[in-house]
Amino acid sequence: MTDFPEPAPLASHGPAKVIAMCNQKGGVGKTTTTISLAGALAEYGRKVLVVDFDPQGGLTAGLGMMSHEGDTIYELLIGTARDIRQVIKPTKVEGIHLIPANIDLSAAEVQLINEVARENILASVLKPILDEYDVIFIDCQPSLGLLTVNALTAAHGVLIPLACEYFALRGVALLLDTIEKVTARTNPIIQIDGIIPTMYDPRTLHSKEVLDTLHHNLGDKVLNSVIHRTVKFPDSTIAGAPITTFAPDHAAAHAYRALARELIARGKIA
Ligand SMILES: Nc1ncnc2c1ncn2[C@@H]1O[C@H](COP(=O)(O)OP(=O)(O)OP(=O)(O)O)[C@@H](O)[C@H]1O
Ligand SMILES: [Mg+2]
Repeated sequence: MTDFPEPAPLASHGPAKVIAMCNQKGGVGKTTTTISLAGALAEYGRKVLVVDFDPQGGLTAGLGMMSHEGDTIYELLIGTARDIRQVIKPTKVEGIHLIPANIDLSAAEVQLINEVARENILASVLKPILDEYDVIFIDCQPSLGLLTVNALTAAHGVLIPLACEYFALRGVALLLDTIEKVTARTNPIIQIDGIIPTMYDPRTLHSKEVLDTLHHNLGDKVLNSVIHRTVKFPDSTIAGAPITTFAPDHAAAHAYRALARELIARGKIA
């Protein structure tokens, strides 16, 4: 596996690269990748904002904010909260800020249907703070509905975590098709920044087969950094901290640092 160089520190911050973490298949590592990559990038001195865009609130909980009270991404979307800076919360990890979500967000999908320019609402919400961060991750829910289309419309790039399991590729065509439609209709500049193989188990033949198939079908879209399956991730979720601070010396933390270096070296993130 290629190793990518240690990134130089940034002399100044922003404007942010906005990246949607997207796969309509559930449980493939979107939220874990959002938290862990944010942790690794923060270690490299990047200012990171993570946006919980899933009514299940897994990102919010995974950063240690259980049962969030107060305004969330939902109030920003429907316009009852107007100052995004009051909704952004610092986290226990220096360099990572969070826009939380809770179950209220599940109503937004229906409520926004009749809005003018309904696909562009998240993009407008994020606009005032773009200059304050180096990267903004939007952790999508496992669906291709209006919220996810909002995330894709607000984003410069998409990262697609993909679990190395049977049927991993099932559904990818539909996701790529959705991204193509977004490119044509609401966001001509969006790029696929990469597919991240997750839950790789080197002890099984089928993990290797899935990875080979991925490379064969999706070629250079597949990133070099592969995230192995380990129970450290569920543990760090329970602890409410990124793997990079929960188990900084574990191979899983190193894997996400390698992914951060790869994305910087490839020019996907500053
Ligand atoms: N590399 C990994 N090895 C083992 N377990 C993992 C790994 N990555 C994530 N997990 C665990 O798998 C479960 C699903 O991961 P995660 O919540 O990140 O997926 P998701 O794609 O965000 O799911 P959803 O679609 O429901 O939002 C979690 O319990 C998480 O701790
Ligand atoms: Mg999730």
